[in-house]
Amino acid sequence: MKYEELKIAFGTETGTSESMASDFHELCKQRSIDSELVDLSEYSIDHLKSWKNLVVFVSTWGEGDPPGDIEDFYCDLEDLEEGELSSLSFSIIALGDSAYEEFCGCGRKMQEFFEKAGAKAFLPRVELDADDGDESSFESWKDDFFAVAI
Ligand SMILES: Cc1cc2nc3c(=O)[nH]c(=O)nc-3n(C[C@H](O)[C@H](O)[C@H](O)COP(=O)(O)O)c2cc1C
Repeated sequence: MKYEELKIAFGTETGTSESMASDFHELCKQRSIDSELVDLSEYSIDHLKSWKNLVVFVSTWGEGDPPGDIEDFYCDLEDLEEGELSSLSFSIIALGDSAYEEFCGCGRKMQEFFEKAGAKAFLPRVELDADDGDESSFESWKDDFFAVAI
């Protein structure tokens, strides 16, 4: 089992990221992957420091901003010191709309903050565009994830 104690987290404004995270959690459960669905608005950076494996589904609002109720979590990410997330492996599924200038800005910056603090991406970030609705990159990501998960 590669992704033990997997947290499947979401940050959402209108529920799309939550619903995708929940569907992905179901797929993990069907494959007996040790996983937990996590609403980031209910957690702090201290929790993050103790997590080992993490997939984050997160959308972008405003002009490249995080969903409102994860603003505190997101702001604290900026203040992390190098090495504070060295135990964390993660991958980000960023939701956005290419009609906006800061396409997937929150997911992109979240990845920067994680990596600056020493976390390692186990799969490249996926960026989903609500404008074209094409989810083929996420389908490939899931194939790659499950190919090594079990
Ligand atoms: C008012 C508004 C502002 C938005 N700002 C951005 C943005 O700056 N960058 C981006 O990529 N997407 C932006 N989006 C698109 C959302 O991120 C996209 O619709 C996403 O799928 C919503 O996911 P959620 O339901 O999980 O919050 C915006 C959407 C709205 C309605």
